[in-house]
Amino acid sequence: MVQLLPDDRLFVLTGAGVSAESGLATFRGSGGLWNGHRLDQVATPEAWAADPLLVWRFYSMRRRDAAAAAPNAGHLALVRLEEQMGSRFYLCTQNVDDLHERAGSHRVHHMHGSLFQSRCVRCEEPFYDDGGYELVDDLPLCAICGAAVRPHIVWFGEVPLDMERIYAELDRATVLLVAGTSGSVYPAAGFVQVAHQRGIRTIYAGPEEPLNADVFDEVLLGTATEILPTIDVRGA
Ligand code: APR
Repeated sequence: MVQLLPDDRLFVLTGAGVSAESGLATFRGSGGLWNGHRLDQVATPEAWAADPLLVWRFYSMRRRDAAAAAPNAGHLALVRLEEQMGSRFYLCTQNVDDLHERAGSHRVHHMHGSLFQSRCVRCEEPFYDDGGYELVDDLPLCAICGAAVRPHIVWFGEVPLDMERIYAELDRATVLLVAGTSGSVYPAAGFVQVAHQRGIRTIYAGPEEPLNADVFDEVLLGTATEILPTIDVRGA
């Protein structure tokens, strides 16, 4: 049982592990393959330039998988914490699925983009899109300028979204809770060092130690659905 103090300000960082019990595969847990694809074939700007159809097939499959999945008790536990803490709660996720929102979370920032958004490579404006693009003739084009439309996903080699806001939130948090992420992808893996330097409480939740485990004050071993529901705000 983990207790937060009534005036704590909580920054939560989630990764693929939080959606694992909803049936969505983590990347590193599946032998370095995402449903049979190597990262550099589907999740880099170079992959997009080389084979947009393959990239769209991959993200179309992930859209299907995510749409068929349901939020789990880990997602719901974070909704409860947000209800208890209000604006003192901030959720930053590396996940591109929408399970946090479908569970009922409101203050969610998708630092690696969103599976159900696309954007024109020229206009750059993201828009809702749950389409499946599996054939050359299906590949979407911008309705305004006719340029190619890509998934609104931050690929390897690209800068995560709104880092300024993230660091501002990290700067005023009193507790950092990290759940279900391997600690191998930066800048997210570096948030704990930032928190540690500020001297705030840092907690990790997941079934195995992340790569940066030594920087955390508390490492709680167990799955998201086991650990997250045990976190409470004192007196709430
Ligand atoms: N509950 C909590 N954590 C879990 C569970 C579970 N049921 N099952 C697995 N995990 C943990 C694993 O122990 C591992 O530490 O989830 C983590 C998954 O690690 P990764 O697959 O590396 O996912 P993540 O850290 O989110 O990846 C970061 O890299 O794959 C790219 O851009 C993608 O946002 C992603 C980023």
